[in-house]
Amino acid sequence: MQTSIKTGGQSAVTAAKGSSDRPRLLAADDQQHVLEALDLLLRPQGYEVETAKSPAMVRAALATESYDALLIDLNYTRDTTSGQEGLDLLSEIVALDNSIPVIVMTAWANIELAVEAMRRGARDFIQKPWENERLLTILRTQVDLRRALQRAERLAAENRLLQAEGRPEFIATAPQMQAVLEAITRVGPSDANVLITGEHGTGKEVVARTLHAVSRRASRLMVSVNTGAVPEALFESELFGHVKGAFTDARFDRIGRFELADGGTIFLDEIGNVPLRQQAKLLRVLEAGEIERVGSSRSLRVDVRVVSATNTDLRAACTSGQFREDLLFRLNTVEIHVPALRERREDIPALSVHFLTRYASRYRRPIQGFEASALQLLMQYSWPGNVRELRNTLERAVIVCDAGVVETKHLPPGFGQAPLRTAANDPDAVRLGVGTTVEEAEKMLILKTLEATSNNKTRAAEILGISLKTLHNKLKEYGAASAEAVPGKEEVPSS
Ligand SMILES: Nc1ncnc2c1ncn2[C@@H]1O[C@H](COP(=O)(O)OP(=O)(O)OP(=O)(O)O)[C@@H](O)[C@H]1O
Ligand SMILES: [Mg+2]
Repeated sequence: MQTSIKTGGQSAVTAAKGSSDRPRLLAADDQQHVLEALDLLLRPQGYEVETAKSPAMVRAALATESYDALLIDLNYTRDTTSGQEGLDLLSEIVALDNSIPVIVMTAWANIELAVEAMRRGARDFIQKPWENERLLTILRTQVDLRRALQRAERLAAENRLLQAEGRPEFIATAPQMQAVLEAITRVGPSDANVLITGEHGTGKEVVARTLHAVSRRASRLMVSVNTGAVPEALFESELFGHVKGAFTDARFDRIGRFELADGGTIFLDEIGNVPLRQQAKLLRVLEAGEIERVGSSRSLRVDVRVVSATNTDLRAACTSGQFREDLLFRLNTVEIHVPALRERREDIPALSVHFLTRYASRYRRPIQGFEASALQLLMQYSWPGNVRELRNTLERAVIVCDAGVVETKHLPPGFGQAPLRTAANDPDAVRLGVGTTVEEAEKMLILKTLEATSNNKTRAAEILGISLKTLHNKLKEYGAASAEAVPGKEEVPSS
């Protein structure tokens, strides 16, 4: 069992290493100076850039090479700015492999074309002349997302193997979780007491189970006690047992959790909630390695490894006198901290795929995966309830999902409306510098909202607080206005 956990960890590390390669891009535009400008911008940022001057060259490149993202212009013929060639190319690429993020370049203010491209599966668009920062942000987001998904798929494949052999399910893709996994494999086999810290729902119990599973005690029990939930009066009896007649209700001898765990592991959950008087009793047992059943004066040796967990700051509790320092010292021979989910977003795709697979099979739903925008929302959310909240969110999504993939509409109402500020949802994505006209701002807002709703006009109108008719009129207006406003598609980028 130990070896298999190690194997899982190592291959994930290898996967992480593989993804640190330079991302490969294919940029397509019929204008040599645009390609040169892109190359000049992107190469120093660590991208490998290949270029194509026509749709035919893009097709040829895709037939033999693989890329992390494509950046394609929509117009290739001088005498038309319809973008039809580009749109056709886009549709072809998406049909071939919709996991490659395609970002389209459109002439400034050619809103209709951008919207149509998004509808056909472009992941994002950039208007020419482009702003370097915005282009870099879009690319980084899309490449990160693609790589995270690829890792998740690899891991899900590995994980299915692990599950098939009945081993603990422990997903760890993010570097911080790789460190946790390494700690587990290092200290697991020893008998050292381990204190696991972390917020609610981060996976402390999963860590405890995995520790037990890789220990030499794996064939014996791991006995869990939610120490915080045991009533004070029953604490001793629960943990150490009692003999018949020890107190009014003690009609039989009762074995305590420590005795039950003899030879195995005892998991003391929510240890921070144990009152001081009980802490003293616990300390005595840990120091002596012996228990006494309540009402008995006979000492029993127990061979138990203690793993405890808390979401409170026990050091602060020691300082304020609520927790015994000597007890903490006994418990935390090794401390493993499980980071909050928002601190290790790389884990979100892997965990999402994991829970999706679990619930799709449990509820017998033929769901294949996620729509990119839904996954993007999952990745941006702050997850105050951590992995447990993600699990519940996906269980719900599977239940309400009526499509082949989980879409944004399957996430809870209002989900992700106030996400953390990240590159992907940077409010600057709608750039409203001083000098932007109200009309221009309105236009950008409408377009961004359409993008966020996957071009669902009804929903976009709802969010914007305007009627569907007004939205249609606005779009028509922009289309007409942009026909005049487009100063020619091949602008040299502003830098
Ligand atoms: N790395 C992980 N891989 C797979 N599943 C996980 C992982 N981390 C957490 N989970 C799942 O998330 C849920 C919450 O995890 P767990 O109960 O271990 O959290 P916890 O930190 O003990 O929470 P609490 O502090 O509320 O007791 C469980 O269903 C668990 O299986
Ligand atoms: Mg727990």
